[in-house]
Formats: sequence, C-alpha cells, structure tokens
Amino acid sequence: MPKPLTRREVLGAASTGLVAAKVAHSATTDKPAVLGGSPVRTKPFPSWPVIAESDERAFMQVLRGGKWNRLDGDCARRFEETWAATLGAKHCLATANGTSALIISLNALGIGPGDEVIVPPYTFVATVNAVLMQHAIPVFVDTDPETFQIDARKIEAALTERTRCILPVHLGGSPADMDAILEIGRKHKIPVVEDACQAHLAEWRRRKVSTLGALGCFSFQASKNLNSGEGGALLTNDSDLYRVCQSFHNNGRGDTGSGFGYVRNGANLRITEFQAALLTEQLKRVEEQSRTRERNAAHLTKQLAEIPGIRPARMYDGATRNAYHLYMFRYDKAQFAGLSRARFLKALEAEGIPASGGYTPLNKEPFLKHTLDSRAYRAIYPAKQLAEWTERNQCPANDQLCQEAVWFTQTMLLGPREDMDQIVEAIRKIQRQAGTLQTRS
Ligand SMILES: Cc1ncc(COP(=O)(O)O)c(C=O)c1O
Repeated sequence: MPKPLTRREVLGAASTGLVAAKVAHSATTDKPAVLGGSPVRTKPFPSWPVIAESDERAFMQVLRGGKWNRLDGDCARRFEETWAATLGAKHCLATANGTSALIISLNALGIGPGDEVIVPPYTFVATVNAVLMQHAIPVFVDTDPETFQIDARKIEAALTERTRCILPVHLGGSPADMDAILEIGRKHKIPVVEDACQAHLAEWRRRKVSTLGALGCFSFQASKNLNSGEGGALLTNDSDLYRVCQSFHNNGRGDTGSGFGYVRNGANLRITEFQAALLTEQLKRVEEQSRTRERNAAHLTKQLAEIPGIRPARMYDGATRNAYHLYMFRYDKAQFAGLSRARFLKALEAEGIPASGGYTPLNKEPFLKHTLDSRAYRAIYPAKQLAEWTERNQCPANDQLCQEAVWFTQTMLLGPREDMDQIVEAIRKIQRQAGTLQTRS
C-alpha cells in the first residue's frame, strides 16, 4: 500500500512539479475505508474448515459401512489412540463435544453439590456451565491482563475448605501459568483440570497442555484448530480416572461397553464414528497448520508491538508453544485520538480486516445469579454463602480487559506473511487517521 510521503519525497516531487498530484494520491489512498476510501485489503482470509479429498473418502467410508456408532465401529478408538500418542498421554476418551469432556472430568473427580471450583472469568461460558451442571459453585479468579489468562498469583487467596478443583483455561491457545497452578494444586491437594478446548498442540515446558493436570479437555467444535463440526476429548494419565470417565460417558456401563449392565449413573456423551473419521483426517494437517500460525503470529507480534497503543498478549516464560486459536491484543484508545474500540473495530473491518472485541465479563452474567438463586442451589447452599457470592467474585482487571481486547481468529494466521503486513498496515492507517475517524465515523 502507498505510504504517506516522506519529507524527501515531497521535496523531490516538488522539484519535478509532481507534488500536487502525489499529495492528492496519498490523501485518497490513506482515506479510511469506513469513510469511503479504498480498503487496505480486498481478499478474504483463508476459509475454514480445510477439506481434502481424503476427508470425503473417510466420511463416505463410514457412511457406506453403516457402522455409525462407536460401539459398532473402530474410528473413535483409532482417533483416541492417535490423539493420545500425539499429546503424550496414556489415555484419550473422545466425547460428543468439549462441554461433555469437562462435565465427565468433573464428574469423575467427584465434584458435586457443596464444592467450589476455581475458574477464570475470561473464557467461553462452557467452562463455567460444566461446573454448574455438577451443582458446584464457580469461584472466579481475576485475569492477568498481560497474558489474558487466569492470574495464578491470585488463586490461593480464593481457596476455601470447599475448593475441590482448579479449572484453568489455556485461553486462545496460550498456556496458563501451569508451574504456579500445579504447585498450588499439589500444596493444597486439589486436582487441576485443564480446559485445553482452544489449545490443540500448545505446550508448557515442551509438554503438551492437557497432559499436565489430572485431566485435560479439548473441543473439536467447528471453529477449533482441530475440527469435526462438534466433538471433544479428554486426556488423562490416570487409568482409574479414565475407566470412570469411559463408563460415565457410556451411560454408566462397565468395561463391556454395550449391553444392559451398569456400574454407575451416567449419560450418553459418546462421539460418533463420522466425527472420529473426520478428526483422524484433519489431524494429519494440524501440525503444519499450527506451525504456519506460529510463524505468522511471531511476525505480527513483532510489528504490532511497535505501534503505540497496541499490546499483543504476552506468553508466560514456561509456554513453549502457543496454539493461536485466537490472536489477542489490547487496544488503548488514548493512542488513537480517543477512538473507541467499537469504532476501531468497525474501521478495521472496513479495511478488510475482520476483528472482534471478544468476551464480556462472564462473572457478571445475570444467568449466574439466577442459577445460584434456583431451588436446587438454595436447597444445597447456606443463604449467606449465596448472598456473598457476588462480592467474592469481583474481577476488576478482567472488566478492564473486556473493554480493551481485540481478537483475530486462527484462520487469519493461515495465509502468507503478506496478510500479516496488511493487518499491520490497516492498523497503522487507522492510527494515522484516528483524529478524522474520531470526528467523522
Ligand atoms: C474455553 C472453552 N471451553 C469449553 C468449550 C466447549 O466446547 P464445545 O463447544 O465443544 O462444547 C469451548 C468451545 O467453544 C471453549 O472455547
């Protein structure tokens, strides 16, 4: 894209009598697209999902074979073996979706009425819904705005004698501070369940996330870096826990898998053979796609970090690999002539760069108060504990982050490096024109 004229160009152009034309050209190309100028980018970003012929073959094989249920076929088992081996875990159980992987995990740990579970407020609602499904209480620990992850330095202060689980999320694919979290878990004998739903192939000190806590959970929902429309999995190195999970997710059946023998209560949270067949195929591309995202994200971060008012999310020192399900940064409007984030996002979109403002504060969602006010919760918990919940669950750093965050999706990192340059150019253009945008957009 043409840049604004340098002093030298202005002088050079003046000497050849071209200055008026060049200045007019620069003003046109720098005019924000939202105000009618030409956008920095007109091409779409890479589409998702990536579909190869091999996906079609694998899918049709299941369809024609007629064994659509995992109790009849072996696609699910094969996927579980491959995913467990890829991550370095002893056991993998594929599930209907990520939410059910979380529910099964909490259930296997015996989390239930009367218990408290530590969760971050900066996450998708499913993390917290899984806790509520057990009739346990979510206790929110504030976010570290530099990393967008749960602030591990604040976890210990939130523990009580009722805390039965710590549920960190590797948000956006960037690992939470697992050294600190695992240490707190060890010290207080509280199991850690990793919500790795957005963190396929992410690593903490060269070990794959999801294998560090008692259990780790993935989602394979349509937007995810490994995707089968819907789907999920849990990983564990504990064979006893695995057996409970396996049984619970299969209506409480015992080792035989099918038939009418039950060893516990349970539910049908099984994956289908269609999902598993697609996952096995998609899995063949995940490493390469992941490396592309990492390369592009590194290039993007280097350049964005130089723009005043743009602060890319930092990774913790122990994070050796980021899955970049989301590319996240904070936007400081003071460096953009006071241009609000909403108008910044609109201007960016008009330049051909789609972006979102991300989550709103989950701990303040009215549905939480309604749930805690329900007949079931009132039957389980003392009125005082429920009444104090709001006060106990304030997360001011997260409130602020929710106003400043900007996200790009993982698919935007899958193209060539020039795509990153266009993202940077669009942001720089908006910054140059922020004064005009502030008064006219
Ligand atoms: C952090 C997080 N946890 C849990 C889930 C739930 O996964 P699913 O949608 O597959 O049930 C998601 C998926 O969107 C997620 O992003």
